[in-house]
Amino acid sequence: MTTMKAVRIHQYGGPEVLRYEDAPRPQAGPGEVLIRVHAAGVNPVDWKVRAGFLKGRLDYKMPFIPGWDLSGVVDRLGPGASRFKLSDEVYSRPDISRDGAYAEYIAVKESEVALKPKSIDHIHAAAVPLAALTAWQALFDAARLSAGQTVLIHGAAGGVGSFAVQLAKTKGARVIGTASKKNHEFLRSLGADETIDYQTTKFEDVVHNVDAVLDTITGDTAERSYQVIKKGGVYVSILTPPSQEKAAAHGIRAAHTFVQANPEQLGEIAKLIDSGKLKVIIERVFPLAEARAAQELNAQGHTHGKIVLRVL
Ligand SMILES: NC(=O)c1ccc[n+]([C@@H]2O[C@H](COP(=O)([O-])OP(=O)(O)OC[C@H]3O[C@@H](n4cnc5c(N)ncnc54)[C@H](OP(=O)(O)O)[C@@H]3O)[C@@H](O)[C@H]2O)c1
Repeated sequence: MTTMKAVRIHQYGGPEVLRYEDAPRPQAGPGEVLIRVHAAGVNPVDWKVRAGFLKGRLDYKMPFIPGWDLSGVVDRLGPGASRFKLSDEVYSRPDISRDGAYAEYIAVKESEVALKPKSIDHIHAAAVPLAALTAWQALFDAARLSAGQTVLIHGAAGGVGSFAVQLAKTKGARVIGTASKKNHEFLRSLGADETIDYQTTKFEDVVHNVDAVLDTITGDTAERSYQVIKKGGVYVSILTPPSQEKAAAHGIRAAHTFVQANPEQLGEIAKLIDSGKLKVIIERVFPLAEARAAQELNAQGHTHGKIVLRVL
């Protein structure tokens, strides 16, 4: 078999450029594994890339396959690949500059792969790597969050936010989350100590002196966040790099993170899931052929947890 089913784009554009079609089946290169994809997570970066918003930073050779979140089974080992064996169940946030996971097969560097959590199926596992790694790296590597601290999480009901709330709680932090009212019960179920309805309340009117802010929204939300952080605290954006001048003027640290593949962290995340400390919340599952509808739903900006494509 030299072909596979995949969703590809042949030019940047709206959701209509996503095509479910036959594509060449990739081969595992040196140090890579070929993974039979069972499910692929859907993230905002998928439709941002499709629309050409990241042109200049990430340039793809057309046609290309989007989607950089997956769970599946090791199908072939490339030359020199030794970390996994055939039939291992794995999950990964593969290299975003290469063909993604909206496909039956993907070749991934084995340094980007980890064994998937045993207690959840592929659909749930595919929802984890990109968003959970982002939350982990923002909270623990950039903010260096520790027990007893308070963190304000903007966009707490979304993909990154829903993992961030739970991860912050595993560290023993106090969590304040922003979301629309319909999601407050959900945030409480994830462990949030306080919830703020961003549609009716200005968070800066009710939040003061937090140790850290994790901002998955930015824009005006970023501008208003500096004032709620105590001196010596930290603001972390996963979107626009923050102004160092403004941060210095408020006596705080400001950081920007872009998610990096990290199999050790994926291993820790799998342990938290298997021990019941981290839940994976799926809003909706679409078949691979309906990737367009999945991206359209995600692009509305109100995803509750995660959206996943079923590939097998
Ligand atoms: N730097 C990186 O490495 C990295 C990694 C992952 C994601 N990102 C970026 O981070 C952003 C979030 O990603 P995601 O996957 O979490 O997105 P998502 O799942 O689409 O998140 C949507 C969430 O945002 C909430 N929301 C919308 N407007 C809000 C506001 N003004 N205040 C508070 N919450 C608001 C919505 O809650 P309601 O429904 O209650 O409104 C919804 O739950 C995206 O732009 C994505 O591209 C960056």
